[in-house]
Amino acid sequence: MSSNVLFASSNKNKFDEASKILSNFKINLEFFKSDLIEIQDDSISDIASQKVKDAFNKSQKPIIVEDDGLFIDSLNGFPGPYSSFIFKTIGNNGILELVSSDRTAKFVSVIAYSDGKNIEIFESSINGKISDKPRGDGWGYDPIFIPENQNQTYAELTNKNQISHRYESLSKFASWFLNRQE
Ligand code: IMP
Repeated sequence: MSSNVLFASSNKNKFDEASKILSNFKINLEFFKSDLIEIQDDSISDIASQKVKDAFNKSQKPIIVEDDGLFIDSLNGFPGPYSSFIFKTIGNNGILELVSSDRTAKFVSVIAYSDGKNIEIFESSINGKISDKPRGDGWGYDPIFIPENQNQTYAELTNKNQISHRYESLSKFASWFLNRQE
């Protein structure tokens, strides 16, 4: 038996990855294309929680949203919760100009789920580093993020969806969601 859940986002790439990942758990995601209210805050989970409230108000159905952040150690965690704005303004080339010898970073994913009564949060991160130049043809920060134990960027890897920050947070969500349904 499969279960249906909405996924609210304006980012089709993110939805496509989430949908592939959750199909492994027999959860069928439906795209709820929406520009959600996104507060500025230091905490990705607070941003996700506010976003899912707005998403539920718009959809009136059980729904998940995801908020991500790229945290670069030598920049004290920048761009972190501001990753979306920084991508739109300075992009990958701007990030590459800011990073020097210490290139370690992590990518964080927070999934927030709401059924209108409760909000549940599932967070995961993957360690890695920033590449020396953009490599591969991918969306967002994919061409400059190399997950740990790999030599290729997210954009070059063929198995991103089996190891990514998104895979980890969605797996946590799936195991909670499926157990709760039984
Ligand atoms: P948001 O929280 O979804 O807005 O994501 C923050 C920023 O990180 C946006 O610019 C996204 O495009 C980017 N981003 C989120 N997830 C990924 C990913 O898996 N690969 C590359 N970039 C991502």
